[in-house]
Amino acid sequence: MRATAIAQPNIALIKYWGKRDLSRNLPAVGSISITLRDLFTEMNVELDDSLRSDKLSVNGSIDSKMLPRLSSCLDEVAGANRARANIVSKCNFPIAAGLASSASAFAATTVAASNAAGRSSTVAELANLAGRSSGSAARSLLGGFVELENRDEDIALNVLQECDSWPLVVVVAITEAGPKAVGSTEAMEISRKTSPFYTSWVERQDEDLSTARDAIMRRDFEQLAAVAEHNCLKMHSVMWASRPPIVYWNSATMRCLQTVRKLQGEGIGTFFTIDAGPQVKAVCLPEDAATVQAALAATAGVSDIMVSGLGDGARLVTGA
Ligand code: DP6
Repeated sequence: MRATAIAQPNIALIKYWGKRDLSRNLPAVGSISITLRDLFTEMNVELDDSLRSDKLSVNGSIDSKMLPRLSSCLDEVAGANRARANIVSKCNFPIAAGLASSASAFAATTVAASNAAGRSSTVAELANLAGRSSGSAARSLLGGFVELENRDEDIALNVLQECDSWPLVVVVAITEAGPKAVGSTEAMEISRKTSPFYTSWVERQDEDLSTARDAIMRRDFEQLAAVAEHNCLKMHSVMWASRPPIVYWNSATMRCLQTVRKLQGEGIGTFFTIDAGPQVKAVCLPEDAATVQAALAATAGVSDIMVSGLGDGARLVTGA
């Protein structure tokens, strides 16, 4: 009744923003991401009949904020009549700061809970379970370049390229490590209901998915860079035009974009992407990663830098 799983966060290159079915947490659009290697969340789930309620500790401290969503995730995987759980989480990067900590947490929880509950689920089943807790979490089940396909009734995952076959590097510039003011679940609902750009965002997504898929299959860095930056800025435009406006950026976020633009002008292989937070992720060709790291570290307002290669999907560490 006990299992531990590890998962890495993933960074979306073609973003998920908006839901078509709130109750089943089904995304309005497909998405494509890369799974990281060096940032991780480990989840230990112990189902224990003697417990009266679920308990969660994160990096050694009791955490009640994340607990309701994790309890719902366990209900999805093991059924609402399950034994209560003792959940122990370890994470080596800032939580809830736009670094996909919920993606890795829910992917690892889904894998661990499924094993602890004695289920043997397929990746497709795990994807739909994890996706109910957090849309982006499903993508962390697999490694490398992962496409989340939005189908009629559910979601499906495909690996477009393994992590070793196109070993890009991601440099994350942390501009503010604290938790974000508005979570992505709430923010994307505000966008869906109020942004005048939301409908065209959804309608144009297939074009970006197809351009990115083609670039990844052919390992065309320039094509991927152009479509990923465009898709990111389009998602943030949807947010900025929402009421109330959703602006995750700070002044250092903007300065990081200028740094990336300058590097691109010098022929360095890098492009930016930004999620629901102020951090900038620069995706780089491996030979240019050190230059990008140094330039972002020297950008005013950057408080920390994390560097990661691409990695594998969620996996069981111990269990039955
Ligand atoms: C900007 O997966 O956190 O990172 O399904 O409501 O939990 P919920 O949303 P979540 O949203 C991720 C939004 C994003 C883009 C992306 O990862 O595709």
